[in-house]
Amino acid sequence: MSEQDNLEELGKSALARVAQAATSAQLDEIDTEYLGRKGELTLQLRKIGSLPADQRKDFGQAVNDIKVRITDAIEARKKTISGGEIDAKLAAEAVDITMPGRFYRIGRPHVLVQTLAKIKDIFIRLGYEIVESPEVESYHYNFEALNYPLDHPAIDEQMSFYINDERLLRTHTTAYQHRQMEKRKPPIMVCTMGKCYRVDAVDATHNHTFHQVDCFCVDRGITMADLKGTLYQFAVEMFGADTNIRFRPDFFPFVEPGAEVAVTCSICAGKGCNVCKGSGWLELAGAGMIHPNVLRGAGIDPEEYTGFAFGFGIDRMPMVQHGIDDMRLFMDNDLRFLRQL
Ligand code: PHE
Repeated sequence: MSEQDNLEELGKSALARVAQAATSAQLDEIDTEYLGRKGELTLQLRKIGSLPADQRKDFGQAVNDIKVRITDAIEARKKTISGGEIDAKLAAEAVDITMPGRFYRIGRPHVLVQTLAKIKDIFIRLGYEIVESPEVESYHYNFEALNYPLDHPAIDEQMSFYINDERLLRTHTTAYQHRQMEKRKPPIMVCTMGKCYRVDAVDATHNHTFHQVDCFCVDRGITMADLKGTLYQFAVEMFGADTNIRFRPDFFPFVEPGAEVAVTCSICAGKGCNVCKGSGWLELAGAGMIHPNVLRGAGIDPEEYTGFAFGFGIDRMPMVQHGIDDMRLFMDNDLRFLRQL
């Protein structure tokens, strides 16, 4: 085979490979293989010196000719391929605007927050001002100012979480009462709500942390009838128009007389069921007329003013309402449970 034929073969196979190349990377490889510093055509050019003088010109031209054809073919092929590559890339990245959207779960208030919000709304409409009060409370406001005798069991470390000799986690929201009395003058109508803490064996119906609501009212001429009217109104709005209330004597150091208040069981409408243990009533609140010692301690003359107070836990309300048998579920933060409420 002559040098010329050899060259033709080389050119043909290079062009055939270019035509078959599928990616720009393959084209780059072909480029180096033929036209690179050690490429096939470059090697051909180096042969020129060893040829007879009269053949050099033609041979040189032929090599250059092929070089140009291969270069052009690579360029052209690159354009086609990269066009296709861009199309493919665009197609792969395309957004299908006809697809249905993705739904994101949105949060909702915790069931206890929902309950508190409903209660808050009722008391605001009854004329109460909602106030905040500290959860870390002094022995004074939690017990002493509320007329607790020194030997009352609740004062014991076994029943309350003390932070030091002076401070503890409030055991009831009633701790706010004296704080409010000290900075206000009658008529006073305030309400607070929030977390309370007691040392308690945790089970399905008891927790060390629970939520209470407390209200009190002080003015001239306030009687137990006002207390009953207020709690009745609350019960009707909270549990429904057919709800009734029942008062029974009870003792709390900071009220006299004191009462335990129950409401018609909303599950059986008072007929008796397993939720109310057959009685038809559910315990709601502790209540009473504010003890004269408590008023006096805050500089309010009990001869001139009287007041009522009541307080209740709220954690049982959604339990009854939704038929939940374990109080701990409210504080476990298991979303599979909370999302249902
Ligand atoms: N603080 C009492 C309790 O925790 C409830 C209560 C409040 C009773 C106000 C009477 C008056 O049980």
